Amino acid sequence: MDGDIASGGIAVLISGRGSNLHAILRAPVGAKVSAIISDNLQAAGLQFADDYDKPAFVVTPEDFSSPVEWAEKLAELLRASQPEIIALAGFMRILPPSIVREFAGRLINIHPSLLPEFPGLHTHARVLAAGVKLHGCTVHYVSEQIDGGKIIAQQEVAVLPEDDENTLAARVLEQEHLLYPQVLATLLK
Ligand code: GRF
Repeated sequence: MDGDIASGGIAVLISGRGSNLHAILRAPVGAKVSAIISDNLQAAGLQFADDYDKPAFVVTPEDFSSPVEWAEKLAELLRASQPEIIALAGFMRILPPSIVREFAGRLINIHPSLLPEFPGLHTHARVLAAGVKLHGCTVHYVSEQIDGGKIIAQQEVAVLPEDDENTLAARVLEQEHLLYPQVLATLLK
């Protein structure tokens, strides 16, 4: 899987399902996606690169002798495509500080909670366990602190008494799919 590198636009980094990538591609701002990069050859979301005729690149850490070499390859790809924005969309690897620093101000992420509440994994289960009534999602700049960068936009989602982890996750995801393309369109204006 490969393709020509188109300069500018949005590079989207994924690891799995890719539903946020899909939401971005089917929005008007999807025309600006210039590269799709995955750290996982099995990522289901890579299918969307084919569907929308976008260049896709797979850079798996297992193919490199060290995390540093993997990061250097990723940075090379990003330098070559010179994206205006690098959008992490379910990218499940922590980016090394060298990449965060080099692309600071252009790297953004979507996270399924109202940051700074509930950074990290399993947010929906943790929200239910904590008994909070308001949940949601956040688009933020990526900094060296995990899920700790400057917040760009948030969308609230009410927690319903009958919610379980799946129903809550589904309602938050619906809002992620609206919020991420909107934020990208605004940032690229
Ligand atoms: C989303 O909930 C996103 O907020 C989080 O990881 C999940 C990715 O889902 N960072 P998908 O791969 O976009 O479907």
